[in-house]
Parts: sequence; C-alpha cells; structure tokens
Amino acid sequence: MYVCVCQALTEKDVHSAVAQGCNSVRELKHKLGLGAECGRCLSCAKGMLQNGTTSIVGAGIQHPTCMTE
Ligand code: FES
Repeated sequence: MYVCVCQALTEKDVHSAVAQGCNSVRELKHKLGLGAECGRCLSCAKGMLQNGTTSIVGAGIQHPTCMTE
C-alpha cells in the first residue's frame, strides 16, 4: 500500500527506513522525503509509528492517502 502518493512511498519503504533506525515522522521526512508535498501522509505515518507497526493494515489506519497499490 502507498503511504505517500506524492512521493510514491509504500509501507515497504517506511518499514525499511524504520529498520534502518528511523523512529519519528521527522526522520522519515528527512530520509524519504515523506510529506514533502501535500503533507497528507504525515498523519498516516505518525499512526504507523505510534501503533508500533509499520503496517497500515496492522495499525488500523483509515487515511485517504493510504491507498492500495
Ligand atoms: S501524500 Fe505525502 S506529500 Fe502528499
């Protein structure tokens, strides 16, 4: 699933960044460019981090930018 449509970032991209040490939205923004355009993905990413999962489905997030591929 896409987390950030504007930057074409998927759950897999976020998961990879978290595995490499990113543990905040700020770090995801810096590393991946997440939220660099419309910013609608930031709440989605924040929810993923707060729920301790990098899975949108596992986090139970319903966000318009969390789209299926
Ligand atoms: S959806 Fe991420 S910047 Fe627009």
